[in-house]
Amino acid sequence: MTFRYISTIAPITTILTVAYGALTRRIICLDGTNGAINAECCQLFALRDDLQANLFHGGLCTAEAHESLRLTFNDAIAISPALEAQGEFGGGGADGSIALFADIETSYHPNIGLDEIIQLQQPILARHNVSVADFIQFAAAVGLSNCPGAPQLTAFVGRADATQPAPDGLVPEPFHTSDQIFSRLSDASNGAFGVIQTVWLLAAHTVAAANDVDPTVPGSPLDSTPSLFDTQFFIETLIRGTSFPGTGGNQGEVLSAVKGTLRLQSDQSIARDSRTACEWQSFVNNQAKAQTAFKSVFQTLSTLGQNLGHLVNLGKRDNVNFHRYRFRHLRRVLPTSLPGSVQQACAQSPFPSLPTDPGPPTTVAPVEAARPAS
Ligand code: HEM
Repeated sequence: MTFRYISTIAPITTILTVAYGALTRRIICLDGTNGAINAECCQLFALRDDLQANLFHGGLCTAEAHESLRLTFNDAIAISPALEAQGEFGGGGADGSIALFADIETSYHPNIGLDEIIQLQQPILARHNVSVADFIQFAAAVGLSNCPGAPQLTAFVGRADATQPAPDGLVPEPFHTSDQIFSRLSDASNGAFGVIQTVWLLAAHTVAAANDVDPTVPGSPLDSTPSLFDTQFFIETLIRGTSFPGTGGNQGEVLSAVKGTLRLQSDQSIARDSRTACEWQSFVNNQAKAQTAFKSVFQTLSTLGQNLGHLVNLGKRDNVNFHRYRFRHLRRVLPTSLPGSVQQACAQSPFPSLPTDPGPPTTVAPVEAARPAS
């Protein structure tokens, strides 16, 4: 589908900008209602609306939004300068290979279950003239905008699509050690993701569930509020675990604190690692930091392997305006009635004092499985 657009001289207040030290023209898109600085944005209004109506059930932070976000990571992190240095193909990063070569890449163990969201996204992708790589990242930015408390992610277009699948072995597993995960993320990002940025990235697990870690309890949330981008994930992973949502004994799973939630071994390790424990704890009562930090690392993640000079940044000036809940402050509570207590892991500062939830032990319901829009 090709989008035509007409340009027009906008009112003086919108065309005079000092941002780039030059006059800029605003484009009025062919739909007659949306405008943007970058013409490439015009087609994204229609894509945004299609995604909201036909993938995210009118704008919900449900399994489809969670899985779309996970897809960005599993696509983008599959890049390895270290492999390239050994003369092997190291993957292309955020290049859409996970969907373009879905038959191959979704058979890799850490990508288990992602075939589902790729299939649900496919008909929408087919209706729009964007690269697969751009589609994956944009869909997640729209999906996350449906989760109250989320930051407005920066979207880029212009990514080149993959021409070959990424090799297996590059996506972290929940049973990997902190060292393995730190080293993999650092390699993938040429050092941009240090141990601190790894914690920032894991804020994504505040809107997350696990379907395949324990297949007897699909949809087990990773915190008690999987449809909110809040800081409960950072709190709850620091409370001593006492139960499994299902059978237990699964690879990559450890005891969780809140009934019904599932804790990944990797989250538990990084939350308590001496290199990252204080950074982890710093998010416990800092919603604004979680928003800023995740926005910043997502920008790097979503462009891994791409030439930034070729990408168009769809900033606020482009008015794609897919965000709905900017900087909303959310509850952060310590459920006092839980059998487990906080495990202090940060040596430098005590766990912050938080309001408490005096009710009976919370039992969290599973996240409903992703399904086609009705
Ligand atoms: C760094 C180490 C990471 C590991 C080991 C890891 C591992 C996992 C695992 C095992 C699951 C559950 C999959 C399932 O059984 O359905 C999961 C879910 C998820 N992960 Fe990660 N992850 C990591 C980082 C990230 C990052 C950086 C992001 C995003 C930027 C992310 C986003 C998600 C999301 C949104 C889900 C929920 C998917 C759903 O609800 O279906 N993860 N992750």
